[in-house]
Amino acid sequence: MRKKIVAGNWKMNKSFEEADELISDIQDGLEKITLDRNTLLIVCPPFPYLEMASDYSSESYFLVGAQDVSANDNGAYTGEVSASMLQSMELPYCIVGHSERRAYHHETDELIARKVDQLLSHDIKPIMCCGEVLAEREAGQQFDVVRRQITDGLFHLDNDQIQNVVIAYEPVWAIGTGKTATPEQAQEIHAFIRQLLAEKYSAKVADTISILYGGSCKPSNARQLFANPDVDGGLIGGACLNADDFLAIAQSF
Ligand code: 13P
Repeated sequence: MRKKIVAGNWKMNKSFEEADELISDIQDGLEKITLDRNTLLIVCPPFPYLEMASDYSSESYFLVGAQDVSANDNGAYTGEVSASMLQSMELPYCIVGHSERRAYHHETDELIARKVDQLLSHDIKPIMCCGEVLAEREAGQQFDVVRRQITDGLFHLDNDQIQNVVIAYEPVWAIGTGKTATPEQAQEIHAFIRQLLAEKYSAKVADTISILYGGSCKPSNARQLFANPDVDGGLIGGACLNADDFLAIAQSF
């Protein structure tokens, strides 16, 4: 049975003190609720707060992930953070290919594929983001865009490697806009992604891979989104900056 996952992408938010408070609130909140045994909760704060989050997580029920990684090995790359550094902190997950990195940092599918390789070779599971922008959706190109992102970003992986990847479908027009994809729109693309995986690998392999939805997911719509057979959870932006909302989403399966 594939994992249900709710991952919180803090993006570039919170001071050190605020981060401490939020993680501590998540830890306290988790004491009061019972998550399904098959549900993973992942907190992805900015790099400077990873160590603090990891310390908390060692005494709690959540895991910690980074928001990005370098495509390069250690060396003269000012400002970058390598997969081996994340591995040395024993981080289990890392987001790659987020639409904000594609848009503002000009990340290509080829670069994202190298980041995926860096992570997997350091025993870190990538959460690989894909999704179309509004103009592409309006032109009916969402399937082509997602196919290209998945094919070029992931399909060089072998049968074992792909099973260590989490995919997040985040339609860019739904990110931070309050405009959520309808449950039908989410299910349609998630089923399409799983079909791509089944064709490239096998139905059995495709069935093991968690596919998350991201884009204005909140406590009020999470249950409807997660009720779909191919939606295995969410990658949460704005709503993960509040512990109660984040935990409410984690209980929406
Ligand atoms: P919002 O939940 O704020 O729309 O952000 C989604 C996202 O980009 C998560 O990676």
